[in-house]
Amino acid sequence: MPGPGAFLVGDEERREVEEVLESGYISRYGSEEDVRFKRKVFTLEREFARRIGVAHCVAVNGGTGAIMASLVALGVGPGVEVLVQGYTFVASISAVLAVGGQPVLTEIDESLTMDPEDIERRITKRTRVIMPVHMLGNPCNLGRIMEIAGKHNLKVLEDCCQGLGARYKGKPLGSIGHIGAFSLNINKTITSGDGGLVTTRDRELYERAFAYHDQGHMPLRMGVEIGERSLIGINLRMNELTGAFVLGQLKKLDRILKILKDKKQKFKQAVCEGGIKNFGFRKINDPDECCTLLTVIFKDKGTAQRVAEALGTETVSQSGWHVYNNMEQLLSIKDKEGNKPFKRNMLPKTDRILERSINLSVGVVDPGLGAGFGINILSGDEEIQRRAEEFVRAAETSTA
Ligand SMILES: Cc1ncc(COP(=O)(O)O)c(C=O)c1O
Repeated sequence: MPGPGAFLVGDEERREVEEVLESGYISRYGSEEDVRFKRKVFTLEREFARRIGVAHCVAVNGGTGAIMASLVALGVGPGVEVLVQGYTFVASISAVLAVGGQPVLTEIDESLTMDPEDIERRITKRTRVIMPVHMLGNPCNLGRIMEIAGKHNLKVLEDCCQGLGARYKGKPLGSIGHIGAFSLNINKTITSGDGGLVTTRDRELYERAFAYHDQGHMPLRMGVEIGERSLIGINLRMNELTGAFVLGQLKKLDRILKILKDKKQKFKQAVCEGGIKNFGFRKINDPDECCTLLTVIFKDKGTAQRVAEALGTETVSQSGWHVYNNMEQLLSIKDKEGNKPFKRNMLPKTDRILERSINLSVGVVDPGLGAGFGINILSGDEEIQRRAEEFVRAAETSTA
């Protein structure tokens, strides 16, 4: 079951894609002189940059590619350390390894996002980047994180893959750090099946991210090289069909956010009306979050496990894809000396929070996130009430 944008695919996307099919231009590059060339990827980059409130955007083929291009833009490569939280999708970590850098894991706090209090002790002379991940649509505490980055002269890469549409202190996510990376995969706020976007205010970072995504080329080429190539790049390009589809979805973003806010509020209220006192909610760092999930945190692990079982879901710690403890490919890595840099239970605060937490779906229904139970963007009032009652019953009967 996908994210909210996928539920609402319709005429807007179809019209955009048909224009591309009729034009005959399906790559992002085409003839500037030919009026049939619709420049969908260029248009998306301009519109998305405007939406996020930054000067530049590069459209790419996925969130993982967006993070890789951002890391290369920031100068991450062999010997460079990047701080990233241990509760995130594996791509935030593997992107660092893929460009030759070294991920250093930090704890999360009760917002289930990066714990600012755990950053400074992990900074070494090799650290260059902090990568806060806006997990589950909840903005990280960017106020504190930007302050720490400034103090230590570090760059901030916002992993906004789960945070498209949210704001922190009035500013869109992806406009606050030095560079931001977004995903358009099927579980995200809006989607094109796959796709990604990089945002930045900085012209130099833009040129470097663009160059990495397109074999080292300068921005705005039209299929032929213009000028010298500044770095070794690869191909992470988005094609016109995808660009067109995203333009259709982008028109629906505000509607999606409004519906989710309303449904989450109703769901949470109905859960609270149950009067059960053995759980609380995750800390929300800004009310302008995405409202894609409602996360409950129980007082003890056993209760959380029993509730999850009764609902046919899992605690967040058991959900496979986003918890460092469950990333066997990460835990098996050995350095040159044969030591393992990533060990099970190396983040005790993160472990204690996640083993007591359950993600209830609101807009993102994703068992990979432990969010297999809850509501979705199409749920009516009756279903919201029924799901809330099922949760309350499970919480009531599962107390130790
Ligand atoms: C936090 C986070 N970072 C990165 C990614 C990678 O995005 P993609 O699947 O588009 O490559 C995801 C996708 O699930 C994500 O949730």
